[in-house]
Amino acid sequence: MTKALQKAIMGLLLATHLFNSSQVHAQDIPVEGASFFDHMQNIIGTNYDGKPLPQKPHPFEALLKKLNQHSSFFTSVVPFGRSLQKMAAYPQSLKFPRVLVATSELSKSMNTHFRGRLFIAYVEATKKLEVISFNPMMGRYEFQIVDNFYPGGKAQARYVPRSLCLRCHQGGTPIFAGGEWLETTAFNSELQKLSIAAIGSKEYFGIPLTRDDPSSKYELLPRPENFEDMVRFGALLVGYQKAWQDICSLTRHKLECKKKLIRWMLVTNLYDKLSLEPDLELLRGFVSVLGDGTIDLASEKLPDHNPVVKGQLSYHMPPEMDPSLPRERMKIIMPSKSDPLGLQFYKFHILVKGMGQSFFTEKDFDHFRSLLGGKPEPRSAPQRDTARTCLPDPADLLQSLNSKGDSKQHMQLNCFPKDKWLRFAKAIDALPLTQNDPLSRESILQALDKKLGTQYAASLCCQTNLALAAKKEIEKKIFLDPSSIKDQRLQSFLKFCSECHLYQDLPPPFLAGENEAQVLENIKKRADLIQFRLQNKQMPPHFARHQLSEKERQDLLQDLKNISK
Ligand code: HEC
Ligand code: HEC
Repeated sequence: MTKALQKAIMGLLLATHLFNSSQVHAQDIPVEGASFFDHMQNIIGTNYDGKPLPQKPHPFEALLKKLNQHSSFFTSVVPFGRSLQKMAAYPQSLKFPRVLVATSELSKSMNTHFRGRLFIAYVEATKKLEVISFNPMMGRYEFQIVDNFYPGGKAQARYVPRSLCLRCHQGGTPIFAGGEWLETTAFNSELQKLSIAAIGSKEYFGIPLTRDDPSSKYELLPRPENFEDMVRFGALLVGYQKAWQDICSLTRHKLECKKKLIRWMLVTNLYDKLSLEPDLELLRGFVSVLGDGTIDLASEKLPDHNPVVKGQLSYHMPPEMDPSLPRERMKIIMPSKSDPLGLQFYKFHILVKGMGQSFFTEKDFDHFRSLLGGKPEPRSAPQRDTARTCLPDPADLLQSLNSKGDSKQHMQLNCFPKDKWLRFAKAIDALPLTQNDPLSRESILQALDKKLGTQYAASLCCQTNLALAAKKEIEKKIFLDPSSIKDQRLQSFLKFCSECHLYQDLPPPFLAGENEAQVLENIKKRADLIQFRLQNKQMPPHFARHQLSEKERQDLLQDLKNISK
């Protein structure tokens, strides 16, 4: 066994263990809120509830056109990648590539972030959409599939068992290769040429295979680097949630700590040069949790892979490229643990500001600006004013904390009317947070409305518990952990066939099942076909990781006989 392979197998075992033990992901159907995709379906009027889709236009185009009215897109075209759908169009992956779509930036029409909130993946041959979208009420991504997604198909959206997806989407986030993006047609010129030749066009479903051509159908940018930005942004939404929990788990008053962080998130985004007085307990928590810049979640970033070998598409996937291998920890911010106090403070300031911007919108900040009576008045530090609350400038704090001596004398402050400030600060202190509540913009704004007597949050998107009203049954396609299967007759099948016939729908997953008896039954049912493909040396294909020797082939055929007896 090669080293890389050993590592890969160890990794697979480890990853299986990791997702099994994760509690947050226990509920496949959200118990609060719903996916952003469900909310958008409501808003744009597409209902994938089992009724037949129109024949024309193609439902994928219809969906993108409608979504496009609310957000522009970043797209990416991946003929042969590492997703669950990677084999689905084989051997015509160049002609029927996987299309990736991510919503971009703020909506033109709704007061909500679109950036990083919705990702759709589609391989025509699967007749399925894969969807990852944010649930703001639970602070997590939801994983969904729309089945029967073809013209005339009875399209049905459902939540999938998360463990199916988290094998690779390990942190519960979208994932993507970094670097040169050689799996995409936009950055791999050889792949682009091959794909354009196979499709006979520079577009597929209106999505350019190139990087700079406009789409004939939608407002979008076909740029993988921007798609990656959205994936990064999405990963941070989950990373920030964890940072918020973890930093406060180290403090004495955990709920107060969480509210304090919310206050920091809002205040640092109200105006430039606005911060709060350093809070040493929070700072210590920040440095212990994020001192090396990472958080205890799998990184969203995959190693890059070039599927073109000698000018041709190669389906061979080296084991170390497997996205289900354990990955390094997710990067959140620059390391801070060996910095002087001032710099630690400054990085904390940057972190909370970034958190604020990812969850809250510019409109939200405007709402708070007006509550605080508009722009604060500048004052020099020594002046005292009992009618005002004066806040420091982060750059001054960086200096004064570093220099240890009292340079506060020269600080420039920004002051709000005290009554307005107190009302704002007290409303945050009174947030009815409980221990397990996620960091949810919508819940926070609702609760602040109540305290402040404002009417701001009522019109915000995505607060209703749509998912609970939705169809509950989810089709379970359970797969056993391969290492738990004991039957000797199955061992070689697992070794030589599970790379492609276990987890995904296409090619058929005859090694999937709730128990060994089911797996044996699957094989029995298609014994003739398997025998034919084995005898004629059609399986495993030449690009498979494990090739069969003649003896191993004969042994497999014997195993098959024993199973079919
Ligand atoms: C075998 C590993 C693997 C599994 C399992 C997997 N994915 Fe992915 N997925 C990927 C990879 C790799 C990418 C990025 C590149 C690509 O799409 O080819 C991806 C991308 C996606 C994207 C585009 C956004 C992004 O993260 O880049 C969606 C949507 C998606 N997957 C949905 C799902 C859903 C839903 C499931 C569960 C049913 C799932 N995936 C299971 C590997 C996987
Ligand atoms: C590297 C991926 C890969 C591996 C490994 C692999 N297959 Fe396949 N298999 C495919 C693909 C792709 C298809 C669909 C295209 C085709 O039929 O050639 C397929 C199709 C099949 C089919 C026909 C489809 C059906 O209805 O079931 C059989 C039977 C089959 N494989 C058996 C096997 C057996 C047995 C092994 C292990 C000895 C194996 N395969 C290993 C990729 C793989």
